[in-house]
Amino acid sequence: MDFHILTIFPDMVKEGLDTSILARAASAGLIWINAVDIRDYTLDKHGKVDDYPYGGGAGMVMQAQPVYDAFSAVKKQCRTPAPRVIYVTPQGSVFNQAKAEELSKEEEIIFLCGHYEGIDERVLEEIVTDNISIGDYVLTGGELPAMVMIDAISRLIPGVLNNDVSAEIESFCDNLLEYPQYSRPEEWRGRKVPEILLSGHHANVDKWRREQSLIRTLERRPDLLESANLTDKERRFLEEYKNTR
Ligand code: ADE
Repeated sequence: MDFHILTIFPDMVKEGLDTSILARAASAGLIWINAVDIRDYTLDKHGKVDDYPYGGGAGMVMQAQPVYDAFSAVKKQCRTPAPRVIYVTPQGSVFNQAKAEELSKEEEIIFLCGHYEGIDERVLEEIVTDNISIGDYVLTGGELPAMVMIDAISRLIPGVLNNDVSAEIESFCDNLLEYPQYSRPEEWRGRKVPEILLSGHHANVDKWRREQSLIRTLERRPDLLESANLTDKERRFLEEYKNTR
């Protein structure tokens, strides 16, 4: 999958994503991080990409021209005729695992990262297909949110994780949180690994893990249970658990 990122901090994006699993995925040709410097496209002789807002007010606005020209240059490198262009903004719909899964099916995505008080609305109207936020808080720019989304999307691309099963079973698969995990030693500071995990009985282990997922989701993110796909038996299990709390 090709990720094109329009930004005024290309090094931040390249360096931030050039570690561990994503660095390996890039070397293997599974993803391409193409961070493009919007500043390279300004016509201003001092390299400026922002100006005062019409109508007054605090802060500066990123101008339409350099953004549009950077976009046009990237568009020429694209493999598909109409790639999605995501404007990373706190005014967008909130990113989640379902969105990551949807986006992981694309061949390429263009991310547009804003700064200052935003980007001239006219270029947004011209090029953006999706407005996406990573949560209800405001960051200083769109680079970190773009990196968060690229990480979440990349790990869903076949071959990026060593173990395909782990992408499926983890938190948010089926709108449930992941069960607790344990590794050696069997006892640490007086805390023992749950007996059932040492039993070697796979069916019982699976049942215990599913129950732990249900309990954990109920305790920590009860809102997720509304959209979780539960059997009648699992719903009864949760009702009984609530009564014993
Ligand atoms: N830019 C600034 N804050 C942001 C957020 N929460 N999500 C996406 N882009 C942003």
